[in-house]
Amino acid sequence: MIPAAKPIIGRAERRAVDRVLRSGGLAQGPQVAAFEKEFSSHVDGRHSIALNSGTSALHMAFIAAGIKPGDEVIVPSFTFAATANSVALAGATPVFVDVEEDYFNIDASKIEAAITKKTRAIMPVHLYGHPANMVAVTDIATRHGLLVFEDAAQAHGAKIKGVPVGAWSLAASFSFYPTKNMTSGEGGMVTTPSDEISRMVKILRNQGMEIRYQNEVVGFNTRMTDIHAAIGRVQLKKLPGWTSQRQKNAAFLNAHLEGVVTPPTAPGMEHVFHQYTIKIVDTDRDAFAAELTKRGVGNGVYYPTPIHRLPSFGLSLDLPSTERVAQQVISLPVHPALKKRDLETIVKVVNSVARAGS
Ligand SMILES: Cc1ncc(COP(=O)(O)O)c(C=O)c1O
Repeated sequence: MIPAAKPIIGRAERRAVDRVLRSGGLAQGPQVAAFEKEFSSHVDGRHSIALNSGTSALHMAFIAAGIKPGDEVIVPSFTFAATANSVALAGATPVFVDVEEDYFNIDASKIEAAITKKTRAIMPVHLYGHPANMVAVTDIATRHGLLVFEDAAQAHGAKIKGVPVGAWSLAASFSFYPTKNMTSGEGGMVTTPSDEISRMVKILRNQGMEIRYQNEVVGFNTRMTDIHAAIGRVQLKKLPGWTSQRQKNAAFLNAHLEGVVTPPTAPGMEHVFHQYTIKIVDTDRDAFAAELTKRGVGNGVYYPTPIHRLPSFGLSLDLPSTERVAQQVISLPVHPALKKRDLETIVKVVNSVARAGS
């Protein structure tokens, strides 16, 4: 079976963890500080604050920016639940807007209709590693006096007109979950140009304290450990090479797949292919996916249920593009551990299943 995703952990990661274990300093310390500094150089020098998960990064960023009960935050529904969970965890209300069907990101032309007196912010998701249309979102936010956040959990290293994601908003959040383009085991990072948000996220992750035992606000323990940061630092160095391998794998698949809709990249965007997601338009997607699995090609459906309809939100909304793509998408392996023969097998199997189904 060719796995759908594969974390790559090498000797350098193991040595880095061993050094931390031998040092005796396991909790947040010098490795976290170094990881933050190194991550900043990947987001145009913005502040970077490490957390224990991408969900915590989103959650702390919202609270630090003053998002509160009564506020509405505009998000897509075609994403992972953490996008909207974090809005709700900050006490605010997620307002779901439809996506466009080529790149699967929030449809900027539908945002203004969702703005109310309570709207405080817009948070696009750079889904699958393809940047959202931040130029259009920034323009809408500026005209309506709204804050902009980015859910960059899936898009380490992606760029818009040469500017990295994570550098387009008041606060962005990355995830280092094992299947992401780089991992720290579990972990997350907030990036922000704001000194005050940076300070508040640091305080919130540490029980509300900047000075020991002088808690300023009610906070959390959402700190990253030095063990995780040590892994993340090694992986960050490998990220550019892995990204270009993902892009080469995607180009190979784009050139050879037939009978399915391959993922396009919008002009001016750099797609980092966290997922390589095709659309199955004329045949049953679930049967197609089951056949791929049967023939040894790992795959995933991200995400089969739009999050507004999950029991946790339980909303009935009219989001036709979201509903359609949720029925059509299948993500194929694109990770940098794939060999040429794996890519050839994926092409052979997908093309043959597509031919049989049409
Ligand atoms: C779009 C999106 N947002 C948020 C998250 C949350 O990240 P984490 O799993 O690190 O909490 C993830 C990843 O799992 C994600 O894919």
